[in-house]
Amino acid sequence: MPSDRAEPGFDDYVDQLNAHYDAATASEGEALLARLQVAFRAAGRDLDRLSLDDVAGIDQLHLGGRSASRALATLGELCAGERVLDVGCGTGGASRLLAAEFGCDVVGVDITPAFIEVASWLSVSTGLAERTRFLCADAANVPLSEGSVDVVWCQHALMNMPHVPRVLAEWQRLLAPRGRVLLHELVAGENTEPLALPVPWARSQATSHLRSREQLERAMALAGFEPLAVEDITDMALAWRQEHSRRESRPAETGQKAVAPPGPTSIFGSDFVLMGRNLRDNLAAGKVRVLSGVWRSARR
Ligand SMILES: C[S@@+](CC[C@H](N)C(=O)[O-])C[C@H]1O[C@@H](n2cnc3c(N)ncnc32)[C@H](O)[C@@H]1O
Repeated sequence: MPSDRAEPGFDDYVDQLNAHYDAATASEGEALLARLQVAFRAAGRDLDRLSLDDVAGIDQLHLGGRSASRALATLGELCAGERVLDVGCGTGGASRLLAAEFGCDVVGVDITPAFIEVASWLSVSTGLAERTRFLCADAANVPLSEGSVDVVWCQHALMNMPHVPRVLAEWQRLLAPRGRVLLHELVAGENTEPLALPVPWARSQATSHLRSREQLERAMALAGFEPLAVEDITDMALAWRQEHSRRESRPAETGQKAVAPPGPTSIFGSDFVLMGRNLRDNLAAGKVRVLSGVWRSARR
């Protein structure tokens, strides 16, 4: 992975993120990909023919799942054939959705090697490897050439990045003139009390890099991006999280025979239920808000 070794603390930053997102591998002692394959087999799935429904439990690591990605793609008027860079792509769910439903050609980039391995495998298994490919790199140092993408797409990843101005400068380099940025991001709310932790993106305050909507909008403007449409979708996200926390807390039904395909606990470990409840409570308390928006590069 290209890394910015000149930046003090960069290696620690990467190690902390990798330890956070691949935590269950340390406790389970087996790589994420291998564990997911075992879980899909146990659920009776053919590993060479997974559907997008089969994998939705492990490839939508953001509030609102596939509906939120579809809404953002529609807001941003994504067109067939557009070249999209999915920044902080995780296990690649949005990349596959944009390829399958919107006809885009997508490159996903993520700093967590285990996610890139899983993303690549899931694209092969779901038959989408020709329209999606994945690279392990920092969002501020992406190994693609200047002006090679039409759209930068980013869902729930900026809150992991302390170096947002450098990341936005990299997006300007990568985007074609008048290219678009489509963001579905978490921002700090008006309630500045400490977050309930852990949350799905951090186990400590020091590794959470939430900024307010105003700070994010200022950073976008300074980096040369003009807003086209920005919506606060916190109420919708909270309702979705409340429903999911209710389901996650329900005890498994006795006598249930069918084994379900793997879900987020395969990635985050058993902490995930607590992370989800804390996110729900942070949203309800106004400590976290959710934005969905489209910006255009001012560069001609
Ligand atoms: C909450 S997950 C969201 C994943 C995906 N966007 C989704 O919505 O399913 C955040 C992702 O951002 C990635 N990430 C965080 N900091 C990054 C960085 N500096 N460069 C690249 N990826 C990063 C993490 O590895 C993780 O996969």
